[in-house]
Amino acid sequence: MSNSPFGDISVKQFLEEYWQKKPLLVRNAFPDFEPPVSPDELAGLALEEDVESRLIIQSPDGKDWQLKHGPLSEESFSELPDSHWTLLVQAVDHWVPEASELVEQFRFAPNWRLDDLMISYATDGGGVGPHYDNYDVFLIQASGTRRWEFGGIYGEDSPRRDDVPVMILPEWEAEQSFDLQPGDMLYLPPRVGHNGYAVGDDCMTYSVGFRAPSHQEIWESFSNYLDNITCAEDRYSDPDLQQQANPGEITASAIQRVQNILHEYIDSPELLSHWFGQFMTDPKYPDLAGEQSSELSDDEIRSLIEQGAPLCRTEGSRFAFYRQDGHFILFADGKGCACSPEQTELAEQLCADLYHSDIKVTEDNIVLIKALLLQGSVYFLDADL
Ligand code: SIN
Ligand code: CO
Repeated sequence: MSNSPFGDISVKQFLEEYWQKKPLLVRNAFPDFEPPVSPDELAGLALEEDVESRLIIQSPDGKDWQLKHGPLSEESFSELPDSHWTLLVQAVDHWVPEASELVEQFRFAPNWRLDDLMISYATDGGGVGPHYDNYDVFLIQASGTRRWEFGGIYGEDSPRRDDVPVMILPEWEAEQSFDLQPGDMLYLPPRVGHNGYAVGDDCMTYSVGFRAPSHQEIWESFSNYLDNITCAEDRYSDPDLQQQANPGEITASAIQRVQNILHEYIDSPELLSHWFGQFMTDPKYPDLAGEQSSELSDDEIRSLIEQGAPLCRTEGSRFAFYRQDGHFILFADGKGCACSPEQTELAEQLCADLYHSDIKVTEDNIVLIKALLLQGSVYFLDADL
């Protein structure tokens, strides 16, 4: 595999010219692509309680659309028509280690901008219809052929059909159209209108989706965070109050005082980074977080490291770190942990790569690994403990 998934285009050039700016089609981005998940395995995942999936069935004329949310039943598969349906399974990288390795190709963007790997399977004509997404996406053709039509920038105000359970832009018009074959990849920035449908059967598309919090989510999360760190005595105060001509006036100095309060919080990189690290590494599925939790003793951890047992980030776990003025915080799955200088090397390794077998045996590293094992963010591969 070359260093760039963009063929002749370097990652640097991709970021400068395409990322969040314009679509890019890369022919043969993944030569000899071997899909790590078969259609049967995908259907199997859709039957699972914990897996997020959708089945979309359309009438061949595109007028009617049906949507079924997973977990799906065996019967829902046996009742399907011969064509014009698609199954979409979210976060396959959380469940299948080989699928999570594919996502590693896209770490040129920060970990906390990645959302998940979605895989779709479609029969002839199947797709989700013309729509836009608010996120960047890389669409990798894994098997069969998909025709991607795209063009135009859409948003909340764009007309959409209100008689169907999926987003369909009725006034959408394609500007470009390409047939993608296995190994080809299409990058689409947020809000570009698109419609992808299978040309022939057995069409599988892998979508590496990114995430970006809305301003509304940022304010909501930040104010929840402040809720926990402020107390009832932290209040608006005005010891410099001057008599007003009209008591109804909200004076410029009152607004200035409010502004000062807000600045106190938003001007603190320490506070902002602590909140942001937790916010952006929050697990995609909080109810499932910690399922792989394991409690090992210091001696067990020491012996596993000495044996060279690979330590792995749990698939789907989110890791990031923030460093400033000699302070280093590792964030894993929504939890922040201040690291000692001896722990930062391991913390950085965990953020950069999926597997590690060259860990230094130190007390500090054992403490860090123990905490991460306990919260289910890492695990030892092949450890029968
Ligand atoms: C797909 O059908 O694989 C992708 C759906 C989309 O366009 O978001
Ligand atoms: Co889309």
